[in-house]
Amino acid sequence: MRTLFLKIFLWFWLAMVLVSGTLILSVVTTQSQFTASRAAQSDRTITPLVAARAADVLDDHGMGALSDFLASLDTTLHAQAYLFDDEGKEILSQPAPPEAEALAQTALQTDDTKVLITHGKKFVARRTIGSTGSRYVLVMGTAVESAADALRAPLETQFVRAAVVFLIAGLVCFWLARHITAPIRHIRAATHRLAAGHLGARVGGSAANRGDELADLSREFDHMAEQIEALISSQRRLIADISHELRSPLARLTVALGLTRLRANPESVSGLDRIELEAGRLDGLIGSLLRLARLESGSENIGHESFDLGALVRDVVADAEFEAQSLQRHVRLLRMDSCSTSGNRQLLASAIENVIRNAVGYTPEDTSVHVTVENGTGNNSGFAVVRVRDHGQGVPENSLGDIFLPFYRVGDSRDRSSGGSGLGLSITDRAVRLHGGTVTAENCPDGGLAVELRLPLDLKPTEKKERDLTTDGRVSR
Ligand SMILES: Nc1ncnc2c1ncn2[C@@H]1O[C@H](COP(=O)(O)OP(=O)(O)O)[C@@H](O)[C@H]1O
Ligand SMILES: [Mg+2]
Repeated sequence: MRTLFLKIFLWFWLAMVLVSGTLILSVVTTQSQFTASRAAQSDRTITPLVAARAADVLDDHGMGALSDFLASLDTTLHAQAYLFDDEGKEILSQPAPPEAEALAQTALQTDDTKVLITHGKKFVARRTIGSTGSRYVLVMGTAVESAADALRAPLETQFVRAAVVFLIAGLVCFWLARHITAPIRHIRAATHRLAAGHLGARVGGSAANRGDELADLSREFDHMAEQIEALISSQRRLIADISHELRSPLARLTVALGLTRLRANPESVSGLDRIELEAGRLDGLIGSLLRLARLESGSENIGHESFDLGALVRDVVADAEFEAQSLQRHVRLLRMDSCSTSGNRQLLASAIENVIRNAVGYTPEDTSVHVTVENGTGNNSGFAVVRVRDHGQGVPENSLGDIFLPFYRVGDSRDRSSGGSGLGLSITDRAVRLHGGTVTAENCPDGGLAVELRLPLDLKPTEKKERDLTTDGRVSR
């Protein structure tokens, strides 16, 4: 994404700099062509007048006055002027360049203004007749200004000009690249949120109101997200409704079972026990399904109660140890940092209990399940990490993410007598995510599964105040 922004930015910038460069160059050349044609025009009008005036000055006032007049042309027209008589001799005996002498000879034969441009100099010659009737030729030499000369402005000026063009082009391109990529950024963020399970994620806002193809894409995305949300919501509602509807017949079945027991003969007791056991399992399954449906619909209120996470884990471990002992297994709390989190204590207790119960179920006899509670550091800073590790077979690597899906069970777990319905870890996952945390599982190198629950730490009032202050600072900047 950032590279798309960079690509657009750099290409537009380059294009703009090239276009401005070409434009400046073409303006300069056209301008110098224009200057040249204007100079030719002024040569034709001014030279005859100056020539006539020079001849008159000589005839009426003599050589001294002519010398002054020719010198004055140097300051007014920046021209070196020479006056030749009709034999091609320079009147003031000034050393004239050979080109000027040659041009004077040519001009003597004609009434036209003659122009010669050589070696960066321009000579203009014109024949004229003085007040005494003598013929003269005036030749003026000036330096030629070429297109390249026009470009030869002082280096600093050129540098400042280029910098300004560069800067303005850069700013415009930066804005353009941002403008083009902004909706893509919004669509990407919405895709991320949707993929993370936030079904209400939409692009919306300015991205959808631009009136271009990206706005169409944003609207299409929002439409798709709406469809997905409607589909998943109706599916969840269906599961919740079915579970709910199953509760009443199950309750009636239990009552009928109780009544039948009262009149049962000894042979049917074992059958009734079995029915009661299965009814109990069914009740547990329906209870789990309803809890999962509530967690997924977001209707579960997690509250803001702050509590000691270490103490919570200690209680869950104590209960689990009591059960584990009867199975010749143990649950040990190896480390307990003091940390607190906030939310629904009961929900988190059952989430952690699900994980520990699994571990007790899968760890072999005479082994222990190890539990630690740590204040996270590094990547986990700001989180409390509860880690539950057993010494069982673990889970195949490619199923590590799937065990958090509803009804997912690895291999033959379904056939085991200890096996549940495959809802425990999905309930744990949803409950922890509702609290802003995450659950992950990994196989330990020396065997066994380690499940890690990350839960946001509840900051102490002073820390909270500091965090709010820094957040404010960031916003107001
Ligand atoms: N500690 C563990 N060791 C090995 N496999 C595990 C462990 N915990 C969970 N699993 C696997 O993940 C599956 C899903 O677990 P869970 O959602 O708790 O369902 P259930 O316990 O009802 O089978 C289990 O069926 C099992 O295959
Ligand atoms: Mg389980």
